[in-house]
Amino acid sequence: MNIAQLKKMKQDQQKITMVTCYDYCFAQLLKDTPIDCILVGDSAAMTMHGHDNTLPADIDMMVAHIRSVATAKPPQLIVGDMPFLSYRIDIPTTMRHALTFMQAGAQAIKIEGVDGHEEAIAYMVQSGIPVMGHLGLTPQAIHQLSGFKVQGRSESQGELILKQARTLEALGCFALVLECIPAMLAQEITAQLTIPTIGIGAGSATDGQVLVLHDLLGLQTQFKPKFLKQYLNGAQLVQNALNDYVKEVKQGDFPSPEYEY
Ligand code: KIV
Repeated sequence: MNIAQLKKMKQDQQKITMVTCYDYCFAQLLKDTPIDCILVGDSAAMTMHGHDNTLPADIDMMVAHIRSVATAKPPQLIVGDMPFLSYRIDIPTTMRHALTFMQAGAQAIKIEGVDGHEEAIAYMVQSGIPVMGHLGLTPQAIHQLSGFKVQGRSESQGELILKQARTLEALGCFALVLECIPAMLAQEITAQLTIPTIGIGAGSATDGQVLVLHDLLGLQTQFKPKFLKQYLNGAQLVQNALNDYVKEVKQGDFPSPEYEY
């Protein structure tokens, strides 16, 4: 998958599917699925490292996850999520970080927000780095937003997000994640942009959807926002398998002769 194909999917009104992935093992599984894009999200800080938010993600953490995913050589577009403030210091630092991501195997990068880093986005795009935007609930701004809350509910907030979306398109972003905004607003943004929108908690009118892989597989049981549909009770299945293993070992049923040399 490449960014031209994603743009064509919007034109052809074909829905885009993206999931997060942080490691080689799951990247191998994703290879044989029709998922279009892999996001090595900074949600790794929460999902894989147990933090309360995404702020502890740093370049080293993200690069390790990007490398692990890229090693599986999946056919999906690999998007690396630039962590908190890593694109806010200055252009040379931003470019150094983006270079590290691309050399680790990312084929595009994602950046939250737009105000104050327009120049960095334009510079990356002009340097040949595909940039995905991210508006609405931008988790790196959790403290500024006073929590994980739906954004763009008021008319003025909605107009601001629409304006920011247009700015990201004008700066050359190839796609835009819309997180936790009212479905009507996501629909309007999607209709006004020529680049694909990929929603999470943004209703069904966006050009695509993204979910955190471990959430959709039900591998974690604590986090259940309204927008999340669990397609598997992964935690229960894993625990059942481990319980069976322990039981069989204790009973002396495993290993049976077929597993012996
Ligand atoms: O880091 C992440 O997983 C994300 C998605 C929720 C869009 O940014």
